[in-house]
Amino acid sequence: MGADSEHWFDYYTVTVDRPAWRTVKLAIDKFREEDAAAGGPLRSDGRPLPRRFAVDLGCGAGRDTRELLRAGWRVLAVDREPAARTAMEAAVEPNLRDGLQVHIEDLAAFEVPPCDLVNASLCLPFLPPEAFEAAWRRIVAALEPGARFAAMLFGDHDESASDPTMTCQPPGRFEADLAGFEIEHWSVEEDDRPTALGEPHHFHLIEFVARKVG
Ligand SMILES: C[S@@+](CC[C@H](N)C(=O)[O-])C[C@H]1O[C@@H](n2cnc3c(N)ncnc32)[C@H](O)[C@@H]1O
Repeated sequence: MGADSEHWFDYYTVTVDRPAWRTVKLAIDKFREEDAAAGGPLRSDGRPLPRRFAVDLGCGAGRDTRELLRAGWRVLAVDREPAARTAMEAAVEPNLRDGLQVHIEDLAAFEVPPCDLVNASLCLPFLPPEAFEAAWRRIVAALEPGARFAAMLFGDHDESASDPTMTCQPPGRFEADLAGFEIEHWSVEEDDRPTALGEPHHFHLIEFVARKVG
């Protein structure tokens, strides 16, 4: 399933109007609950709390980025494909653009800045194993206790597992790599269905939302 720029351009055309994934929605809800429990959007001295800040890795056409922006977040949206910027900027509502920064870089090198949430929907599997492990370490290092990591990954039964340019691992391996996190949402699904571009594919999809605790 390793893919080129033309593939991703077609992917953006098809997915640009699709709703956000449930992982990012769950993460937003968790923060909203915490903010409400802490007394709402104001500090104890009456000043507004700073906007929450998310890094959306492999943002594509921005289905998750837009959900975050609509929830009032600032978002750094990162992708290797320049076409992602074009698709994203065309699709974001004008009144939300001040919260958005798009950055074009390969995740194999990207230094994740400190943030409240790293969101990575269906992008990390496209890194080969060594780059995947380095990116994972940078994500974990960017998160302070209380911050969250939301992701959609491919398991070792996925059809892409035979592609050496990709990283598809047993679910238990990802779980072990989340030591130091409280896993708040965890799902593993395996089925045959078409990809967004209509190609048949055997999926082994792992998703989680995890809160850094130490
Ligand atoms: C399946 S799409 C997912 C897009 C978006 N997160 C979504 O769920 O709609 C994978 C995205 O990861 C990006 N991607 C793949 N490998 C990458 C890499 N090495 N560095 C940065 N982005 C990458 C692709 O360009 C593409 O936009």
